[in-house]
Amino acid sequence: MMQEQIIQFLKESDGYISGEEISVKLKISRAAIWKHMQELRAEGYEIAAVPHLGYRLVVCPDKLLSYEITSGLGTRTIGRQVVVLDTVISTMDEAFRMGMDNCPEGAVVCAEAQSKGRGRLGRAWSSPKGKGLYFSVVLRPQVPLNQLAQLTLMSAVALAEAIETTSGLKVLIKWPNDILFESHKLAGILTELRAESDQVKFVVLGIGLNVNSSLNQLAPQATSLKLAAGRSFNRTQVLQAVLRCLDKGYARLLRHEWPTIMQEWLKHSATINKRVRITDAAGTVEGEAVDLDGDGALLIRKDNGLVVRKTAGDIFLLR
Ligand code: BTN
Repeated sequence: MMQEQIIQFLKESDGYISGEEISVKLKISRAAIWKHMQELRAEGYEIAAVPHLGYRLVVCPDKLLSYEITSGLGTRTIGRQVVVLDTVISTMDEAFRMGMDNCPEGAVVCAEAQSKGRGRLGRAWSSPKGKGLYFSVVLRPQVPLNQLAQLTLMSAVALAEAIETTSGLKVLIKWPNDILFESHKLAGILTELRAESDQVKFVVLGIGLNVNSSLNQLAPQATSLKLAAGRSFNRTQVLQAVLRCLDKGYARLLRHEWPTIMQEWLKHSATINKRVRITDAAGTVEGEAVDLDGDGALLIRKDNGLVVRKTAGDIFLLR
């Protein structure tokens, strides 16, 4: 795309780049360049134009752009295709559509806002425009249904690592995959799937991360990177970090390196060795969260010594 290339030139040039140079490189007229510059300005780019000097990029818009996300991403699977949409109902629905249309594995769809973002257990996910990262990834792992918990836990580790490297914050994972900063929720993961009999057709991994949201834009008990770190973040850079960590984690999972992933999950765990109460369709269980098992289920030791295994549900940390 012509505009992508122009942005690239502007970014690469340390200062001004002449219209002449762009015109030669892209084989387009000076008038055409001017038109593209106007369009970029309409998208929020602030571009200075000085006679005899040329153009200079002053401000980039805080907008997610597919080519900025994929540029220099360097992943193998995740982000092979990146679609950016403005406001959608939920990126989960968009990803399902893409999955049904046979999109490549690792395709990502992100939105600037969601009118009905959803969380686990039927909850809503607050998705104010331009403030967070709301995206879904389509995966086609060749694994039985009962191994999908591993995928979700791997994603939580990847998300935690990406957050830690980009922000320097220390975060914890609340089982199964909430990312917490000082007990406040920073990010969440929703896994949905399409299966036929016991065969997984595709999985949609939905990630919501509060990036630059202020307190009044967040759900109660939630926080954002900005509130936690005291500065704003470039959403494209954060997204790239998450996609890279997911790519690495997914490759490990496919290489059957679940034990290492589990170790990392345990290292970040806000749940293990805590007294918990967990509620699912089968009822409520209280006890000590002692470990994860080979499938990624949580093991809880009840007061009578009996250990029960949980793969889903709502968990409360009691102390
Ligand atoms: C949770 O913690 O309950 C999971 C939250 C998942 C939110 C993300 S935002 C992108 C994707 N689209 C949705 O509607 N939900 C997920």
